[in-house]
Amino acid sequence: MKSEHSGLISGSSNHCMALARDGRDSAAMKGTDRAYAKINISLDIISKMDDGYHDMLMVMQSITLCDEITIECAPGNGVSVDTDVPYIPGDERNIAAMAALAFYDFTGINGYSTRIAISKSIPVGAGLGGGSADGACVLRILNEMFNTRLQRSELETLGSRVGSDVPFCINGGTVLAKGRGDLMTDLTPIPECRIVICKPPFAFSTPELFGLINCEKIRARPDTAGIIDFLDRGDLSGVARRMYNVFEDVLPRGKKEIENIKYLLLDTGALGAVLTGTGSAVFGIYDSAGAAKQAYDRLSASYSDCYLCETIASCAG
Ligand code: C5P
Repeated sequence: MKSEHSGLISGSSNHCMALARDGRDSAAMKGTDRAYAKINISLDIISKMDDGYHDMLMVMQSITLCDEITIECAPGNGVSVDTDVPYIPGDERNIAAMAALAFYDFTGINGYSTRIAISKSIPVGAGLGGGSADGACVLRILNEMFNTRLQRSELETLGSRVGSDVPFCINGGTVLAKGRGDLMTDLTPIPECRIVICKPPFAFSTPELFGLINCEKIRARPDTAGIIDFLDRGDLSGVARRMYNVFEDVLPRGKKEIENIKYLLLDTGALGAVLTGTGSAVFGIYDSAGAAKQAYDRLSASYSDCYLCETIASCAG
């Protein structure tokens, strides 16, 4: 999907789920789909809840950067995960395996050996929701494969058992997410734009960053209401100027490098630039494809983990 000429990860090619029955064994089934990454246009934390989780207020957006997942089910038992990245676990600690187990538990389907193959493009430890996207994609594929016809809201509830960002990744698009991230309202889709992402060579631990947040002492917050208003007006620049992520104030290390990436993005014409999720990736929003390409080329000269992509209105094919 990454064109060699432009570097742009485009959403234009077919991203519908493909399903097939294996000719050799009529009971074996195969399904494939894409797991799309997300960015946080804004990330605010309202309070710490009694269960230790945080009450969030986030504008989330799906982008064309994605992993590819293929699932093969045949009579038997067990769930396994194969990825092309060595440090991702292949057992039940993997969020994709957790999602499959949650699906079987919820539907009561059993007696299948489930092999999940993930071709990773979304960087790990970036705040781009790669694991959550994989989990949601597994739920979508299995729902189709077994013709269980679970509705979007049912898949989202099932996803919330697996991880806080999984419900958003079931359908994606442009969404306001509250609570743990599972209380969602669809927003007016973001105007057409390009996204340049750059991940520095370090990562933050999500529990560590949440642990550094003191909800009473958050100094700067995103203008969430303003972002929603400018989305409604189709004003990309108004949206981009109001972006913020409250984790930027509590970064335990690497703050200078994050600021440098933001500076490079803004200096190359980004309308706004911000940390996504718990980082460490930073993204910039561009209304000009040419400026975005130049930014991507310039950042790629210093950082190996750079991506040029577009937004998408829905993850569900
Ligand atoms: O739900 P998930 O496994 O993605 O969350 C990872 C960690 O992030 C949790 O263990 C918790 O420390 C933190 N978290 C939180 N509040 C949220 C979401 C995540 O404190 N709304």
